[in-house]
This record gives sequence, C-alpha cells and structure tokens, in this order.
Amino acid sequence: MDDTARGGRCVVWFGQPIAAEQQSLANSGWSVRVANIQAREGVGVRTGQTVVAMADFRHGDDNVLQAMGRQIAQYPRVPWIALVSSEMPTQQPLVKRILLNCAELFTAPIDMPRLLETLARFSDSKQPQVSMPEADTLGMVGQSAAMLAVRSSIRKYAPVDLPVLITGETGTGKEVAASALHELSVRAMRPFVTINCGALPSNLVQSELFGHERGAFTGANARRIGHIESASGGTVFLDEIGDLPLDAQTSLLRFLQEGTIERVGSSQPIRADVRVLAATHVDLETAVAAGHFREDLYYRLNVLRLRMPALRERAEDVEMLAQHFLDAFREQHHSHARLFSDSAKQAMRAFSWPGNVRELLNRVQRAAVVAEATLISVADLDLQDAPLTNGHRSSLGLTRVSAEREAVEICLRESRFNISECARRLKVSRVTVYRLCKKHQLVPEQLR
Ligand SMILES: Nc1ncnc2c1ncn2[C@@H]1O[C@H](COP(=O)(O)OP(=O)(O)O)[C@@H](O)[C@H]1O
Ligand SMILES: [Mg+2]
Repeated sequence: MDDTARGGRCVVWFGQPIAAEQQSLANSGWSVRVANIQAREGVGVRTGQTVVAMADFRHGDDNVLQAMGRQIAQYPRVPWIALVSSEMPTQQPLVKRILLNCAELFTAPIDMPRLLETLARFSDSKQPQVSMPEADTLGMVGQSAAMLAVRSSIRKYAPVDLPVLITGETGTGKEVAASALHELSVRAMRPFVTINCGALPSNLVQSELFGHERGAFTGANARRIGHIESASGGTVFLDEIGDLPLDAQTSLLRFLQEGTIERVGSSQPIRADVRVLAATHVDLETAVAAGHFREDLYYRLNVLRLRMPALRERAEDVEMLAQHFLDAFREQHHSHARLFSDSAKQAMRAFSWPGNVRELLNRVQRAAVVAEATLISVADLDLQDAPLTNGHRSSLGLTRVSAEREAVEICLRESRFNISECARRLKVSRVTVYRLCKKHQLVPEQLR
C-alpha cells in the first residue's frame, strides 16, 4: 500500500479521472487511486478507511470493465458511483448491476460540487451508507458458514479458466453459482449460455451443442451454429450434465481436451474459446460406476468442485432469504404482508425444504399473495402440517422421543415382531424392548 492509500478517504477509480477532477478531489481530502486494470486484486484498503468506488463509463473501455468484473467482489461494503455515457454497453450484465446498485449517477462533465457532496455523505458515519451488498454482487443471499464458504470458493474459482463441477440438490442455487462464476471472470463481458442437457431431445443433442451443416440430416435446411460456438469468448453452463447422452459426452470430452468442436455433418474442427461449467443433482460417481457417464469426461469436469449446500443444512439463512424474497415480490406487486410472524419463522426454520431455495421462493410468493395481514402466518406458507427436519425437532423437544419410537417400530417390523430378534438388532435386552414398546404405546400384536 502506498502513502496515498493511508489517507482516511479514497476513491478507487475504474477508468481515467481527468487532472482537474483529481485536483478538486484532492483539495477536499480525497485521494484518487486508479484501479490497476491488469491486476486481479483490487487496491489495498485499510479497515476504517472510507472508500468509494467510481465506475467511469466515459471511455467504454473493455479492459476497464473486465477489471471491474474481477475486482468488484473485493469491495463488498463499498458504495459505487457511476459516471455514465451514451457509449456504455447498458445490456452488459455487470454494467446493469452497477447501474442498478450504485449510490449516485453522474454524467460528463461531472458536476464536481454534487460529487463532493455525495462523497461527503459517505464519509459521514451518521448517514446511512448505501453500498453494493455483497449478496447482490453474487446474486446470493445468506450469511451461514456454508454460504460464506461457497462465496469464497466462487471468488477463488471464477478467475481460473477451468471447468467447475457444481453439485447439489435441486433448487440449491447451482445456476446462480454458475452465473456468479461467469460474472466474476474475465469472460463477464461475453455470453453466458445455459444448456439444460436433460431437456434436449436425444437425437438433437449433438446439433444443439455443436451445430450442424446444411443437409447434415433430414430437416437440416440451413447451417446452424451450436450453443458452444455461440458462447464464444464466454461461458457455457451445462445443467444436468448427467443426462448428456454418451455420444455427446465423447464430443464434449474432445472439446475439453483439444478446444475444438465439429458441427454435425462436417469433419472440419473449429476452434472455440469457451469455459465449461457443469451442474448435476445426481451423483456422477455412481453414474460412472454404472457406465452411464464417461469416466475420462468426469475427471475433466471435476477439476474444481463446488457443492451447494441444501437449505436445511443452513437453516439460519432461511429467514433472511424469505424476507429477501418477500421484499423483492413487494417491489413488483401489491401485498399486505411485510414481515413474517414468529411462528412462521419457526416453522420455516424447522421445515426440511426438499425443494430448497426454489421451494422457499415459491412458498413466500404464494404467501405474499394470500396473506391478509401484515405478518405472514404459518398457514399462508402452507406449513401447518409440514414434516420437520430431524435436526430441528429437538428445538421443539420432540426429536429424541419420536426418533426413538420410530426406530423401535421400524426394527419391530424388520424383525417380523419377534422381540428377541428386535432386541438383538437394537443391541438391548428383551426387557428393554418391552419397556420401549410400553413407553411409546407400541403394541406389536396391533402393528402386525
Ligand atoms: N442464495 C440465494 N439467494 C437468492 N436466491 C437464490 C439463492 N439460491 C437460489 N436462489 C433462487 O432460487 C431459485 C433456484 O435456484 P437455481 O440456481 O435455479 O437452483 P438449481 O439450479 O440448483 O436448481 C432461483 O430462483 C434462484 O434465483
Ligand atoms: Mg437448475
């Protein structure tokens, strides 16, 4: 860190400040540090230092945008100011994100008094700080240890131009993670193309992925560029990769090894510069063992691995996610509901969420529509009869009792209601089995 960074207030400038701008900022006690666009890392920032980031879109420079993409996650609590111009690529996801989240917009020439006034607001700790929330930079809500670990892996994997295999149950955010990996990579400016391998008709998979030449097969009336080629310079996200038919697996492996594809009906290899991210909710190791998935392809894809935790593994995030979804819903639609009742929060925390975040989103949206009060109730969420996760029964004082009853009952059935056999399996005495049956009101004769 150099001396200027030791000052109390600093503007990290992505782009090119002009001398007069730098001068007037310096006169007001702000040091300007121009972001190093070659670097992966942002400028060093001291704790306690007031930092504001400037997205200077005046020059529409690709390199500057790429540097912003790489470094934005390193300034999670920093307010952004955007200097907009008609040249900037407004459809570019990173640009959209900054424009949506920035604290203040300026046009050139900068109205310096207003800029200084804005900056002064940020250095006044009594004022509420507008900042790009970290969750928002990655599209991911959650502060649980599991989620922090996921974010940290994403930040590590994003700049490395290798495949990432994302695993996790349905609805855990695999696609969100893939998109964050893309957006934090140098490819952020280029396309992000999602392909659901399970949704492609099996006879068309090859042509969808790799394209085809005119006349390659009946119905191929014109040449068609495949998804991989169309993502050139960017990222393809192969969702449900476990569903990819074997012949397409072979072509994909070749692409990963040699960087070339062949359109169906052509033997001309075409170079394609595309990063592959893949996701699966099935266990690929099992698919490999069963001969449904090529082992060599599995090893190629499994270089970097990201496991998305199930929502029940991070129950402490449920409330924050629910409130986030409710707030987002209310931005678009009318709803009486503003918050969740205590019992609704408790029910959400205790629920097992088989459909994970997607299910939570759906239940919250439904609740927001049907709720007639300010507080969303258990019934609005349709959780009144919901089964609970094991880990959370204990919080209601039920776990041990009901788990014990269940274990005894299952064992009795498996032992065909033979008490000696059941005792042997449970590694307890016959007397204990009788006692447990009595305690839980299990009557073997009646269960039979
Ligand atoms: N951490 C998260 N924060 C906010 N929304 C999330 C999060 N994880 C998932 N979602 C939302 O949940 C839904 C399911 O996510 P998705 O990535 O499609 O899951 P998957 O691909 O694993 O089935 C999407 O609407 C997504 O935006
Ligand atoms: Mg998905």
